[in-house]
Amino acid sequence: MSGVMEWERNAVADEQRGNFSGNASGAHVVREGELDLSHNVILYLDDITVSFDGFRALNGLSLAIDAGELRCIIGPNGAGKTTMMDVITGKTRPDSGKAFFGQTIDLTRLTEPQIAHAGIGRKFQKPTVFEQHSAFENLELAMKADKRVRRTLFAQLFDDDRDRIAEVLVQIGLAHEADRPAGLLSHGQKQWLEIGMLLMQEPKLLLLDEPVAGMTDDETARTAELFVSLAGKHSLVVVEHDMAFVEALGGKVTVLCEGSVLAEGELAEVQDDPRVIEVYLGR
Ligand SMILES: Nc1ncnc2c1ncn2[C@@H]1O[C@H](COP(=O)(O)OP(=O)(O)OP(=O)(O)O)[C@@H](O)[C@H]1O
Ligand SMILES: [Mg+2]
Repeated sequence: MSGVMEWERNAVADEQRGNFSGNASGAHVVREGELDLSHNVILYLDDITVSFDGFRALNGLSLAIDAGELRCIIGPNGAGKTTMMDVITGKTRPDSGKAFFGQTIDLTRLTEPQIAHAGIGRKFQKPTVFEQHSAFENLELAMKADKRVRRTLFAQLFDDDRDRIAEVLVQIGLAHEADRPAGLLSHGQKQWLEIGMLLMQEPKLLLLDEPVAGMTDDETARTAELFVSLAGKHSLVVVEHDMAFVEALGGKVTVLCEGSVLAEGELAEVQDDPRVIEVYLGR
């Protein structure tokens, strides 16, 4: 059995066992549509602390992201940016503090698959597409598990699923590469394909850690356009060191330093902040 088939089979089996919708131990069960955005805040972190062997990677981190917002997180190496994403996605448990998705979903009580299922998608730096499969097939494989079950049962793609894949291919600028094996795409195109795979999961919140690292200037500019177009329908939290890219995104910027928020505001404002210049921009 090919790796992809096995992956798909496992995902279907997981879905049938209910692995994506909580467990019998009474853990918080997340159902579709449960996200409560009544206060317009999609992500709320309050006084989060994470220690590794006594070293505080996050130290009283508090942050709120509005529904539909496009937020950039900048800051020096080791500031805790990736650790923050690890906390949001359930990879790392905070020692203390609160992490809420909408008003009601307590992220500190959910497993990684439960958090993904609740609507938080994460893009790691290295693209992980299925190289032998076409761009189209990669998106098909990334469809929500319930749709994959339907497809497996009826051995066909439904028109609405096909339409959705076509729509995402246009969004990520790969409509003309739909049938190309992903392994033959450029680095930037692979990154877009992986973002497309995230979009197939219909996430409410997208976390993107250094998404334009290794991209050409042209690819970087097109990625900024893509993210700006996704904001509103999705909320995005983007970690980047590339200031031209951050400027092109145009959203509010949060500066992390030593595990907490040093400054927050429009890019021009934080760029003028002497503390920010000292720890980061003035390097
Ligand atoms: N699993 C771990 N065990 C021990 N220390 C860790 C672990 N993960 C992160 N750290 C430490 O926590 C601090 C924050 O790391 P983190 O990766 O979150 O920084 P970052 O802001 O993403 O930096 P960069 O810009 O270099 O990606 C660093 O000092 C790092 O060495
Ligand atoms: Mg990092």
